Amino acid sequence: MKALDVTRIKADFPMLERRVHDKRLVYLDSAATSQKPLAVLDAMDDYYRQRNANVHRGVYTVAEEATAAFENARTHVARFVHANDTAEIVFVRNATEAINLVAHTWARTNLRAGDAVVLSHLEHHANIVPWQMLAAELGIELRWIPLTDDFRLDLSDLPRLLDGAKLLAVSAMSNVLGTINDVRPLADAAHAVGALLLVDACQSVPHLACDVQAWDADFVAFSAHKMLGPTGIGALWARRALLESMPPFLGGGEMIRDVRLDGFTTNDVPWKFEAGTPAIAEAVGWGAAVEYLHAIGMDAIRNHERGLAGYTLALLEERFGDRLTIYGTHNLDARGATFSFLFDGIHAHDISQVVDEEAVCVRAGHHCAKPLMRVLGVPATTRASFYLYNDEADADALADALARAEKFFAF
Ligand SMILES: Cc1ncc(COP(=O)(O)O)c(C=O)c1O
Repeated sequence: MKALDVTRIKADFPMLERRVHDKRLVYLDSAATSQKPLAVLDAMDDYYRQRNANVHRGVYTVAEEATAAFENARTHVARFVHANDTAEIVFVRNATEAINLVAHTWARTNLRAGDAVVLSHLEHHANIVPWQMLAAELGIELRWIPLTDDFRLDLSDLPRLLDGAKLLAVSAMSNVLGTINDVRPLADAAHAVGALLLVDACQSVPHLACDVQAWDADFVAFSAHKMLGPTGIGALWARRALLESMPPFLGGGEMIRDVRLDGFTTNDVPWKFEAGTPAIAEAVGWGAAVEYLHAIGMDAIRNHERGLAGYTLALLEERFGDRLTIYGTHNLDARGATFSFLFDGIHAHDISQVVDEEAVCVRAGHHCAKPLMRVLGVPATTRASFYLYNDEADADALADALARAEKFFAF
């Protein structure tokens, strides 16, 4: 497979030309949000300068162009995740809203007190709190898949956990540990007991080729901003028949076919779930992001990040040995290039502040996964997360900055 030309890729991202503290910006926080290439910025700029109008309303030329650009973006996103039908992509604000949509519509209709929803210990709050809210409201039971010592899902007790469950909701890739979960066996196990599978694909769609049909998932949630697109838009994928069986989410314009004083009828999917004026420019930008990723190739991106993960793990081990604990598997087939770590005796936040002086952007905190932090027995970690525009020089810069931080706190 052809190696990525990262120098050329970096040149597509204006933010990566920025200097901070008079040093080259080393952006290692893509798990929080990715940088945006010129192709995305230009597409959004062009939309606002040339095609700005509301969608699905006007019949004048510019309004029709706006609608076409918006719906064209949906088609690009649908193809990117191998949806069978463009109508299976519901535009929402982000992955969080996608999961909440499922909790509010499908789950409220189909779950009763005593029904079980199975989650895992590595979930982001976005895939925990909506279910806890529903548990408080409906009296459903939440069950948890634990982790192995190698920071992977411990599936040894899965049949018991799934017994009588209505939904299995798990992340395809952990935003903290970098763990990649094998989705298809989870779908098979859920379906074997008549449960549905929701995949939080917020971290996996940006980094791994995604085929929702090969996964045989029922719901897939993801956000544009982690995959080179703008903030403010994401998607829920589900099969058309399942979406059609669900009641609407928010009420208002767009989502109706007819409204009378005594009631309303709903629009077709996906618009049934898209009340109000949507994020039009953001959809256009997301479409451009998906084209950009597609042109580079998701297999090439995965290959690049796999290599980068191996390089970074070896580098951190060589430079810091046992003084640095990495919370994540070393099996490169089961992880992405996201690293959570802690230095012995130094707080995660202190590390991230000192490496910032070297213009290295890493995140410190609980990464919206507090239950996982409790499982790990730590209040916080420092996290470095790589993407297609990062290279070995960025990993070296991280290691140099960490060495400086370690020295700073040595006493
Ligand atoms: C695994 C995972 N799920 C869900 C989310 C929520 O994404 P958003 O904030 O875009 O809704 C994130 C964001 O960090 C994430 O990493």
